[in-house]
Amino acid sequence: MNEFYNKDIISIKDFSKDQLEKIFTSTDKVMKLNPSERREICKGKILGYLFYEPSTRTRLSFDSAMASIGGTSLGISDISSSSTQKGESLSDTVRMMSIYSDVLILRHPLDGSSRFASEVSEKPVINAGSGTEEHPSQAIQDLFTIKKEKKRIDGLKIGIVGDLKYGRTVYSLLSGLGNFDVDVNLISPESLRIRSDSTYEIKKKLDFTETPDIEDCLDDLDVLYVTRIQKERFPDEEEYLKVKGSYVVGLDMIKRMKEDSIILHPLPRIDEISSDVDKTKNARYFEQAEYGKHVRAALLGMILNENGL
Ligand code: NCD
Repeated sequence: MNEFYNKDIISIKDFSKDQLEKIFTSTDKVMKLNPSERREICKGKILGYLFYEPSTRTRLSFDSAMASIGGTSLGISDISSSSTQKGESLSDTVRMMSIYSDVLILRHPLDGSSRFASEVSEKPVINAGSGTEEHPSQAIQDLFTIKKEKKRIDGLKIGIVGDLKYGRTVYSLLSGLGNFDVDVNLISPESLRIRSDSTYEIKKKLDFTETPDIEDCLDDLDVLYVTRIQKERFPDEEEYLKVKGSYVVGLDMIKRMKEDSIILHPLPRIDEISSDVDKTKNARYFEQAEYGKHVRAALLGMILNENGL
């Protein structure tokens, strides 16, 4: 039996390097299929989604991935129009959705929400963002993008810049990178440094340095992963205003980077990468979004087929 069959995807920490490599291989395989072969993978299967926070890419890429492998999706993307407004618990909503679907995708503002959902759901649950904690499918997509665009992950110098305190994609990415031999530079304002309580495990597997000054490492980086300041997670707007616009990647910065370096971003972008960077060969964030669709198709295919892809 395929080891991913019926598996929940809650944390990137639940995956070994070998398992990540298997997902990459399956993603490559899915990308090579023609549309009619692809539609056989999850023919007749249903993806159910519950989004308690806004989303464009994650929900639509799961939707689009599922359609491309022959399945359908249903769910709630605006919780204010659901029975949650009448007071229904997360547990009951998840249980209901797991009756209507074969696999469930959950985004929720609370840490631990996806783990909890997987305990009450009859069907496998994929965490599509839980509080400030994790976003594992984004990290798998990020690692896959690095592998495709740089042809390797081991040996790279990777800078992660922006909101390292509240950005959940950062924690999942760091845990994923812990499986590889990479040098990581974390670049953030002092008030948005990585949370030390959440990096205890990561530190055992990964070496990283921290700096507020992007110039300290810019010319040495192979990958610059840019993140959005997570305005909605600040307890105090004043604090947000102090760090808003701290880093803006523009053409001037690109010129100081290695010629073959790449710029990634989980998106949405606000003002942290200027739009004139989009046309440079270093910008790979739209490719990254496209890979996300294929990674999710592979994940769904492996979770829903006993014999794998
Ligand atoms: C991210 C998220 O929701 O954590 N978005 C995404 O899924 N690509 C990043 C963000 O919102 O900044």
